[in-house]
Amino acid sequence: MQIEGQIALVTGAGSGLGEATARRLAAMGARVAVLDRTAEAALAVASDIGGLAVTADVADGAAVEAAFARTADTFGGPPRVVVSCAGIGTAARILPRDGTLSLDAFERTLRVNLLGTYTVLSVAARAMAAAEPLDADGARGVIVNTASVAWQDGQIGQAAYAASKGGVASLTLPAARELARFGIRVMAVAPGLFETAMSAGLTPDVRAALESGLPFPSRMGRPDEFAMLVQQIVENPILNGEIIRIDSAVRLAPK
Ligand SMILES: NC(=O)c1ccc[n+]([C@@H]2O[C@H](COP(=O)([O-])OP(=O)(O)OC[C@H]3O[C@@H](n4cnc5c(N)ncnc54)[C@H](O)[C@@H]3O)[C@@H](O)[C@H]2O)c1
Repeated sequence: MQIEGQIALVTGAGSGLGEATARRLAAMGARVAVLDRTAEAALAVASDIGGLAVTADVADGAAVEAAFARTADTFGGPPRVVVSCAGIGTAARILPRDGTLSLDAFERTLRVNLLGTYTVLSVAARAMAAAEPLDADGARGVIVNTASVAWQDGQIGQAAYAASKGGVASLTLPAARELARFGIRVMAVAPGLFETAMSAGLTPDVRAALESGLPFPSRMGRPDEFAMLVQQIVENPILNGEIIRIDSAVRLAPK
């Protein structure tokens, strides 16, 4: 699908991978709705790229519906490119040393990362399915979700995060199969280690240790390298129902 002139919506676009994606899509000529739960962050990015700032918690169905309605009202149609980057990273052992259970952290993580992604996917698919096809293939839209390499090699303390990303990865194929008759593609990207707010708190030692475990290139990914893959997914009409790792060939160790 051609990006120029398209309407796009990116969640988690106030920071990191989502921000880079919103910036790249806008630079390529898309009109971009910048969705984030933090209003100031969404506004800062949107005003920089001439986009629309929308504030919503992705796990709140009514708020997501309102965000899509505002996007359609503002840009004159539903988004045809929807990228879910909103997410939280949590670290919690199943059996923490203090003996407490981590059920709250598990629920919160699943709620944002998995339910939030599913909510955005559902609202996006409904809007796209009701719109006109855009090309001779009958394409109506592309949905790109963000998993993590933790969906396959989750580390100790990542049971909740890995489960949430495993859910995002696992819904890719059934969603692509179901939405095929509407001409909607569904893809997932599974990043390794990227330089964003999520990784900004790492001490130099921890960062060096992590980077030395990356076969090549032995450095964290830059957010725009993630955005570049999103661009390629949107543009290539045959990519569908797949999860792509973007990770310097890393396979995470148990801890
Ligand atoms: N950075 C990495 O190394 C890395 C690796 C693998 C996967 N990921 C995934 O990539 C995605 C983006 O991560 P990032 O590194 O850019 O993080 P980030 O913290 O820089 O950005 C995440 C953005 O999502 C927003 N957000 C969080 N919860 C939200 C909610 N409920 N509703 C709406 N917005 C919400 C935040 O406000 C923030 O602006 C996440 O899903 C993350 O799990 C990141």
